[in-house]
Amino acid sequence: MKRSIIITGGAGFIGSHVVRLFVNKYPDYKVINLDKLTYAGNLDNLKDIEDKPNYKFVKMDICDFDGVLKLMQDEKVDGIIHLAAESHVDRSIKDPFTFAQTNVMGTLSLLQAAKCYWDGNWEGKRFYHISTDEVYGALEMTNPEGIKPPFTTKASSGEHHLAYGSKFFTEDLKYQPHSPYSASKASSDHFVRAFHDTYGMPTIVTNCSNNYGPYQFPEKLIPLFINNIRHRKPLPVYGKGENVRDWLFVEDHARAIDLIFHQGKIAETYNIGGFNEWKNIDIIKVLINTVDRLLGRKEGEDMDLITYVTDRAGHDLRYAIDSTKLQRELGWEPSLQFEEGIEKTVRWYLDHQDWVDNVTSGEYQKYYDSMYKNR
Ligand code: NAD
Ligand code: TYD
Repeated sequence: MKRSIIITGGAGFIGSHVVRLFVNKYPDYKVINLDKLTYAGNLDNLKDIEDKPNYKFVKMDICDFDGVLKLMQDEKVDGIIHLAAESHVDRSIKDPFTFAQTNVMGTLSLLQAAKCYWDGNWEGKRFYHISTDEVYGALEMTNPEGIKPPFTTKASSGEHHLAYGSKFFTEDLKYQPHSPYSASKASSDHFVRAFHDTYGMPTIVTNCSNNYGPYQFPEKLIPLFINNIRHRKPLPVYGKGENVRDWLFVEDHARAIDLIFHQGKIAETYNIGGFNEWKNIDIIKVLINTVDRLLGRKEGEDMDLITYVTDRAGHDLRYAIDSTKLQRELGWEPSLQFEEGIEKTVRWYLDHQDWVDNVTSGEYQKYYDSMYKNR
């Protein structure tokens, strides 16, 4: 095998797309998916590649320093792509300890295991940490009606092409996380950079905007709402639905990760996004129209499912990524227009109701009920 790499969190949403891409594209790499299989991890996401000879699954907690070190020694690991995390802001508000444990201590345990195994022989090694735009905090919404954004990408080239402010997240911005989730991710980013600055470990950090697409756990906005529209359940819109997120199709994120793992500069940070800002309420309307149309209902007939509920505590108003550095230096661009990606995504969830039912049964249902019913 040419390389032996660990991808952490490979049974989750983004991780499963990254594992699939690497297993299919690099038959001469050994791809080890290290995942604890929390509520968010699901091996069904990888059924199509699980029998490939260059793929191996290991059930392990990233906090298990001895286990990770031994795995690295046994498999002669020379690269880590680190996605494992607790990833849902609402859960972090209820249970911040778990977020500090996995996102901060877990990342530190991986870094320390890599440092012990590589032992200063950094040649050909790489520790690539996947982070989020949420570490930068929230941007102001200086143009609530929307203005023409400074760049158009394939993702934002549809009819809706707006920016809601003149400022964007660039790589040199000060970290200002607001939620326990983003605070834990910010902390993990600092540890990764500290391992480069202190020990010389070849690290890279990327901060990506909101992802959407197949296999996302249906507690996040897009898959949750598709499922609720299908079953004509209320759509709990936080606050006024005016918050803005910048959306990227998950396979475009996976392609960026592949490119940056192989060609990114050591110690650099790259922002990943598509200049594709949407107010939540506008996305929700697109979802309702799309689900209705694909189910043969009258387009828009489910608009009355929209239910405004108490706002999320500390709800960040606007996220908007400036990804020009990645586009300029490594030539990455989103491949899909947002409207095409949403159509593809809605079709996927409607065609995979078994997957949705499996991951949302049992404990999840109790959690969901306690989360939303009492609002
Ligand atoms: P996810 O919640 O769908 O998946 C997380 C995966 O990590 C699951 O498979 C889970 O079992 C595993 N995991 C959790 N704790 C673990 C532990 N202690 N040890 C080993 N495995 C563990 O998350 P996602 O949406 O795929 O996000 C992946 C990464 O990308 C995260 O680091 C997240 O911060 C980052 N990110 C996500 C988005 C987004 O929009 N989803 C955007 C930018 C960055
Ligand atoms: P989410 O998918 O949780 O991603 P993040 O909080 O990491 O951006 O939420 C996306 C947006 O949708 C965010 O502004 C919160 C909002 N939202 C709702 O209005 N209702 C919901 O039920 C959920 C899950 C999210």
